[in-house]
Amino acid sequence: MNIRPARVDDLPGMQACNQQNLPENYTMKYYLYHSLSWPSISYVAEDHKGRIVGYILAKMEEESEQQEDRHGHVTSISVLRSYRRLGLAKKLMIQSQEAMTRIYRAKFVSLHVRKSNRAALSLYRDTLGFTVKKVESKYYADGEDAYAMELSLSQ
Ligand SMILES: CC(C)(COP(=O)(O)OP(=O)(O)OC[C@H]1O[C@@H](n2cnc3c(N)ncnc32)[C@H](O)[C@@H]1OP(=O)(O)O)[C@@H](O)C(=O)NCCC(=O)NCCS
Repeated sequence: MNIRPARVDDLPGMQACNQQNLPENYTMKYYLYHSLSWPSISYVAEDHKGRIVGYILAKMEEESEQQEDRHGHVTSISVLRSYRRLGLAKKLMIQSQEAMTRIYRAKFVSLHVRKSNRAALSLYRDTLGFTVKKVESKYYADGEDAYAMELSLSQ
């Protein structure tokens, strides 16, 4: 399995992977917005035939002028069912975090996760060291709450 930065021609494969794995889906225009605005912080995992089996779609939150507020945000991450528990999501997260720091001097990274998403919570909290900053009530379209999580990148 190979992890590499996502290119524009990977976006349909990333969208297909997203649609198989998550109820939160996005238009191609939204994928393109990420890819064109922050071309080096989204990554894909591909199999030996070059098929996309996992991705991380990430952006920078740049509305603030304050250096200490500069941070990355994980819009979406998923790995196809038969490729899970191989460490791919962990690698995708770490590659993206390193690029956020190196290229954009991000101070931290943020994301949202469903309260009930045991696998993702374990990845973020136990494996990567994210902490819960707050609960966002009814964040998801079906009414489920989200944990807003963050990880400092400044060490
Ligand atoms: C969450 C998800 C991305 C994890 O992908 P993955 O490639 O299987 O994760 P990794 O193999 O990198 O796992 C790293 C660690 O996360 C934790 N983890 C991952 N899946 C887990 C599960 N099903 N149950 C408990 N812990 C889990 C473990 O601590 C794991 O380390 P270990 O395998 O050494 O125990 C994947 O399950 C997925 O695509 N789920 C559906 C989409 C989704 O929920 N995305 C997140 C939205 S916020």
